[in-house]
Amino acid sequence: MTKGVTMLKGRHLIEPGNLSVQELDRYFELAENIVKEPLRYSEVCRGKILATLFFEPSTRTRLSFEAAMQRLGGSTLGFADPGASSAAKGESLSDTIRTVSCYADVIAMRNPKEGAALLASQVSEVPVINAGDGGHHHPTQTLTDLLTIRSIKGKTEGLTIGLCGDLKFGRTVHSLAKAMARYPRNRFILISPPELEIPDYIINRVFKPAGVQYSQVRRMEDAIGDLDILYMTRVQKERFFNEQDYVRLKDSYILDAEKMRLAKKDLCVLHPLPRVNEISPEVDSDPRAAYFAQVKYGMYARMALIAALLGVDGNAKPSGLDANGTTQTAAPANACTSAKVDTPANAGTSAKAGAPVKADASAKDGAPANAGTSAKADTPANAGTSAKAGAPVKADTSVKAGAPANAGTSAKASSSAPAAAVESQKGGKK
Ligand code: NCD
Repeated sequence: MTKGVTMLKGRHLIEPGNLSVQELDRYFELAENIVKEPLRYSEVCRGKILATLFFEPSTRTRLSFEAAMQRLGGSTLGFADPGASSAAKGESLSDTIRTVSCYADVIAMRNPKEGAALLASQVSEVPVINAGDGGHHHPTQTLTDLLTIRSIKGKTEGLTIGLCGDLKFGRTVHSLAKAMARYPRNRFILISPPELEIPDYIINRVFKPAGVQYSQVRRMEDAIGDLDILYMTRVQKERFFNEQDYVRLKDSYILDAEKMRLAKKDLCVLHPLPRVNEISPEVDSDPRAAYFAQVKYGMYARMALIAALLGVDGNAKPSGLDANGTTQTAAPANACTSAKVDTPANAGTSAKAGAPVKADASAKDGAPANAGTSAKADTPANAGTSAKAGAPVKADTSVKAGAPANAGTSAKASSSAPAAAVESQKGGKK
């Protein structure tokens, strides 16, 4: 049993700041125990249901949530295409969430609108996990990234971290920057074209107040030799309004074997995936490429999160015993290699999730503003050439998507002003 993770029982996870560093430490103890001995946890969610509501495309995030719940002995329901849900009939997000929270014990939701997850948390009867809200945050990818970094580097402090690519629209970048800025002596090198620079709020409200060192460079070659972590990202095509801008910027950075020769021997290359062109396949066989190991850590990270939010980690079986009471072989400690996770056996412990607390996700430092209050943009409205704000939506439970606010010229959605709350869920794909 991991003492302390019960403090997360019933909570929502909307952005990385919702968990204190101390809570994160406890959470990682649990996650690392799961990596080592997944079978101990194979029944802790028996009888529990996870809903996955994906209003935007996903492979890893949705499937890893579903795999995680199934490996904890629970089950899943949900949709991967909002067109197949009542969103297509014009149902409000609030109503969908109220409905689903009657069926499920925990909800993981991805939505193209900034602020959607926060709104969901305010009406849900069960914990809500933000699986990505537009260009804003993606906290479970950050838990994945941190678990990977801890496992490979043995620490999350004193690291030089290069964030490369679409730092403007990449929600994984925003969440990772916010999380890593909380650990001592981390330093960031921000590698992007001018049009895709990291939002000002990350600089002004995350880095500067914490005294975090950062620099901005245009060429990957100028930074790669200094890095402990290189976090590559895809240019977020779906957040652009103007195809020409996307085409012009999409291949700004391509990591290849030649550039890897300039890097430290113990560089760790991460990417939330999917990749398009930004990492040449020839890099995959380099031992410093950790992005597929990262995928596996993503499942463990989500197992730990679901168990923690449901308050069921204490139901883990005693070490060394499988569900039938027979001795098991521990899974490899390092999931980078070949952590084979056994399928859950039947045992049937039952776990009761406590009443969820309401969004302790209070909107600060980049969290979307509260539903029903005024939307204070914490992501930049104008970050370069061509961004149009994500559709701000009213908090009223019955409104449809408001017209997008203009925040520039021609890029769609996202990392512009997060809406006060996101009510319409129509058009999961933009
Ligand atoms: C990321 C996302 O959806 O933000 N993918 C993921 O969740 N693993 C990154 C991306 O889509 O580029």
